[in-house]
Amino acid sequence: MLTITSVHEMQSWVDAQRAAGKRIGLVPTMGYLHAGHLSLVAQAGERSDVVVASIFVNPLQFGANEDLSRYPRNIEGDTRLLDAAGAAVLFLPSVNEMYPEGYQTAVSVDLVTQGLCGASRPTHFRGVTTVVAKLFNMTKPHVAVFGAKDFQQLVAIRRMVADLNFGIEIVGAPIVREADGLAMSSRNAYLSPDERRAALCLSRALAASCHLVEQGERDALRIVGAARRVIAEEPLARIDYVSLVDADNLQQVTELQRPALLALAVGFGKTRLIDNCVLSQRSTVESQQPSEPTENTLDCKLSTVD
Ligand code: PAJ
Repeated sequence: MLTITSVHEMQSWVDAQRAAGKRIGLVPTMGYLHAGHLSLVAQAGERSDVVVASIFVNPLQFGANEDLSRYPRNIEGDTRLLDAAGAAVLFLPSVNEMYPEGYQTAVSVDLVTQGLCGASRPTHFRGVTTVVAKLFNMTKPHVAVFGAKDFQQLVAIRRMVADLNFGIEIVGAPIVREADGLAMSSRNAYLSPDERRAALCLSRALAASCHLVEQGERDALRIVGAARRVIAEEPLARIDYVSLVDADNLQQVTELQRPALLALAVGFGKTRLIDNCVLSQRSTVESQQPSEPTENTLDCKLSTVD
């Protein structure tokens, strides 16, 4: 696997690959990789000839009081994992390479970034869409893979790609979980043993709501209430939000009719975790993507690592 740190070199490499008729797959990350990230590399590999994985801890998407300075890093370990996963290139630009002196342009997606995480992190998605737009121009992919773990991010990127005519296929990949149900996240490394145990209330809360839906419940307040109650029983958990929103436009719903996203963000000490599940007609969490309703039954189950 090649490691490329310069934008110019990255673009030359990808131009040569394109000239040779290769299909490029991109997996953008902030590193400290886990099996969730590697599942995206595998998905990209299935849909392209060469996979570029990027690692860049993007200052623009962190708020002033957030964890930029302590965000976990392990470039050596990540390099080994990406190599073993079959990536052709690790793109590893510095902050100065990404945002040289004089940099002043941003890409922002308006509506779908306002609720959910956008409410408590008002500058976050602008930072995400800006860096992802830049990564697209630097790596010129045919296809890019993003995790449904960050569902709002996935929706915002789809919107940006459509609105700005990027012509890149965006693939949403299912959430990869630890065996006990906790969604994998680089930020799980921050959790104390007690917080790690407490964090299990997230997947339990989603499961409780899903169970209610399976029994026929369609009222959003009751569905959300079931999840809230599970989290409220956990003394170390502080709820930021628990919301049921339309899976395509992320607007609040009052009744479950079309595919909907049950999304939550909860703090444990200094760590804020997110999780979600899609409640959709005949779909399970394994196929979480904004999709057309097909049948009249709703079904939901939480995916775990097999
Ligand atoms: P990061 O948090 O490193 O995540 C990189 C990608 O991995 C994202 O698409 C995210 O949704 C996906 N991912 C994380 N945990 C996952 C899990 N448990 N299962 C499946 N996929 C998972 O998201 C970012 O970085 C940044 O915002 C980025 C898009 C790189 C822009 O800076």
